[in-house]
Amino acid sequence: MCRIVIAMEPVRSQMLIDIGCISGRQLSALNQAKGVMILTSKENLVILITGASSGIGKAAAEALARKGHRVYGTSRQPKTSPSLDVLNGDASPGFLKMLRLDVCDDASAEAAVDFVMKAEGRLDVLINNAGFGIAGPIEETSVEEAYSQLNTNFLGLVRMCRQAIPIMRSQKNGLIVNIGSVAGLFSIPFQSMYSVSKYAIEAYTEALRIEVKPFGIRAVVIEPGDTKTGFTNARNICRAAGNSTYGERFARSIRKMEKDEQNGPGPEVVVKAVMGVLNKKNPPVRVTVGFDYKVLVFLKRLLPSRLVEYILSKMYA
Ligand SMILES: NC(=O)c1ccc[n+]([C@@H]2O[C@H](COP(=O)([O-])OP(=O)(O)OC[C@H]3O[C@@H](n4cnc5c(N)ncnc54)[C@H](OP(=O)(O)O)[C@@H]3O)[C@@H](O)[C@H]2O)c1
Repeated sequence: MCRIVIAMEPVRSQMLIDIGCISGRQLSALNQAKGVMILTSKENLVILITGASSGIGKAAAEALARKGHRVYGTSRQPKTSPSLDVLNGDASPGFLKMLRLDVCDDASAEAAVDFVMKAEGRLDVLINNAGFGIAGPIEETSVEEAYSQLNTNFLGLVRMCRQAIPIMRSQKNGLIVNIGSVAGLFSIPFQSMYSVSKYAIEAYTEALRIEVKPFGIRAVVIEPGDTKTGFTNARNICRAAGNSTYGERFARSIRKMEKDEQNGPGPEVVVKAVMGVLNKKNPPVRVTVGFDYKVLVFLKRLLPSRLVEYILSKMYA
C-alpha cells in the first residue's frame, strides 16, 4: 500500500486529489486510466535497483526501504537475508523485495521490470548498479573477456533502460541513476576493460539526459571511487594473465587496486550520493563520490594530459 496523489489532466487545469493508500493492483488500473497522471508522494517511490545482493546495491536498497520507499532489489540468485526481515518488521511503509535478474539476459531484464509494473503499476526510479571488474593487460585480455565486461556493466544497463524508459515516458516522470566509477573518468592501466565499460556509461548518460528530458525523465551518473565491498573478491583476472608478460608490474597493480578498495570507505558514502539525487528536479550530470576524488576530477580538467598519464602510471603501472 502507498499514499498517492493523482492529477487529472489536461495539465493546465490539473486537479490534484490525494486518494491516500491503495494497493499495487489498484495503482496499476489507475495508471492505465486516460487523463490521470499519478504523482506518488516523495516518501513512497517505487525503486528498482540492480545488483542488490552485495556492496553498494545492498546498502542502497536497504537504506531506501528504511526511508519508506518500495524497493525491488535484484540478484542472479536472490535469497532473503535476515536484514530484510528487519525491514518487514519496521514501522516504515517501505520494503525491499528481491527479484531474480541477470542483466546480461534480455528476457530477464524484461521480466524484472514487468514484475514491478504488475505489483506497483509504476516505476519511479531505476538504479543501474550491477557490475563487476575484470583486470588484465590489454594484450592478454581476450575479446570474449572484454565482451563479458561490457555485457554486464554497460549493455546490462542498456537492457534495463530500454525496459524502463517507455514506462517512465508514459508516466511523464522518472529517474535513472547509473552507477559509474571514477575509473570512467581516468582510464586505469590493467583495468582497461572496466574503465571502458564505465566511460561508456558516462557517454550514454550524457546523451540519454538530453533525449529524455522533454518526457520528464532525469538521468545521472554516480561515480564512486574505491569502496570496500564484495567487488574486490568478485574481480575476474583475465585467463592469459596467469603467465603474464607484464609480470610484476601487473601483479603490483592488482595488489594496489585491492588494497585501495579494501581500505576505502564502506558503501554508505555512495548511498548518501544516491539519496542526494533522488528527489532532485534537475540532478547534475554526474556526482563524484568523496572529496579526494572530486579534487582529482577537478585537477584532471586543469592539468596537461601527459601529467595525468604520468601520475596514473606511477600509481598503477
Ligand atoms: N567497490 C568499488 O570500489 C567500486 C568503485 C566504483 C564503482 N563501483 C561500481 O559499483 C557497482 C556495485 O559494485 P559493488 O562494489 O557493490 O560490488 P559487489 O559487492 O561485488 O556487488 C555487485 C552486485 O552486482 C551484481 N551483479 C553482478 N553481475 C551481475 C549480472 N550479470 N546481473 C545482475 N546482477 C549482477 C551482484 O549480484 P549477484 O552476484 O547476486 O547476481 C552484486 O549484487 C558496480 O557497478 C561497480 O562497478 C564499485
